[in-house]
Amino acid sequence: MFSAAAALCNSALEQGMRRPANARPASAASPTEGTLASAAASGDEPCSGVVATARSTRRGAIRILGGDNLGWLEALATDGVKVELAYLDPPFFTQRSFHRTARARDAVTGEVSRVVTLAFEDKWSSLEAYLAALEARVVRVRDLLTSDGSIVVHVDPTTSHYVKVMLDRVFGRECFASEIVWRYRRWPAKTPNFQRVHDVLLRYVRDAGEPPRFVQQYEPLAPSTRATWGDTKQLASFGRDGRRVRSTRTEVRSPGVPLGDVWEIGVIAPIAKERTGYPTQKPEALLRRLIEACTYPGDTVLDPYLGSGTTLAVAAALGRDGIGIDASEEALSVAAARLDGVAERLGLERR
Ligand SMILES: C[S@@+](CC[C@H](N)C(=O)[O-])C[C@H]1O[C@@H](n2cnc3c(N)ncnc32)[C@H](O)[C@@H]1O
Repeated sequence: MFSAAAALCNSALEQGMRRPANARPASAASPTEGTLASAAASGDEPCSGVVATARSTRRGAIRILGGDNLGWLEALATDGVKVELAYLDPPFFTQRSFHRTARARDAVTGEVSRVVTLAFEDKWSSLEAYLAALEARVVRVRDLLTSDGSIVVHVDPTTSHYVKVMLDRVFGRECFASEIVWRYRRWPAKTPNFQRVHDVLLRYVRDAGEPPRFVQQYEPLAPSTRATWGDTKQLASFGRDGRRVRSTRTEVRSPGVPLGDVWEIGVIAPIAKERTGYPTQKPEALLRRLIEACTYPGDTVLDPYLGSGTTLAVAAALGRDGIGIDASEEALSVAAARLDGVAERLGLERR
């Protein structure tokens, strides 16, 4: 159904305002109603309860697309768009609604109040329905990747094992590249269990036969290594029997240790400049690592679950192009304001 509509457009994205088949006008499902609107055209359940008016805006080479991502992913494919990195941070199957709390100052009284707005719904009839909806989107993202491109799907241990099996099926097990554990510190929960303090980021390459697009990143040397060797590289040395013996010090400065797959990055502090108040907002430091490792300047990064716009803000700052999609009016308004700030700093043209 969507492809037929797409055939009518020469370039859906350049026309910019085409409505994906499963996007509804805002009046039909406004964010404040909080309806679990149907993403009916595709026959799947909605990932979000809030389906925004379909629209497209640009800041330089950064595009924000409003509406359900399924239709937009098809439109991107129809337009022959290719991306080097896709980062997906879907709802985590929490069976909850997510709200944004913002502070607003009354123009007359000057009083500050809190305004709570529904951001998105993460409610599903079953895990199977959740996985089916995610798989439909992952399949379309796969077709947008360059042959040396990669996808990163950000989930948590509630679904990570099921999502891994699904990704193995879509990409092939040989395309599995990494399971990155994002470890953070947060206020302890009262639970008779180990504290849950990590998310899981599953990375797959599009084609395991291609040399990967990967830029080695480094983390600081361990304090014990620095104490013994300073900041210089060591040269591995071997005895006559081929066994490792004490390394020799060189004069060459060490870039650090090649980055591992457990990343300790703090959650966004309450007073951090990057905080937008959007629920589930991810730290820019996390996206910076991914984008720097998996793309080159000038590449394109896709985020079909854009939220507050973290991926696009980082992509723009790093000189990458970006495409972000979200179905939530609240997300679109937060991301647009954030990207306006970035565009102003970087001097990008707004269209
Ligand atoms: C976990 S949040 C993403 C947070 C984001 N990474 C950030 O840093 O702000 C997931 C987002 O996906 C959006 N979403 C869920 N289902 C969607 C769909 N089918 N199409 C487009 N957006 C969807 C929600 O509105 C929500 O903003």
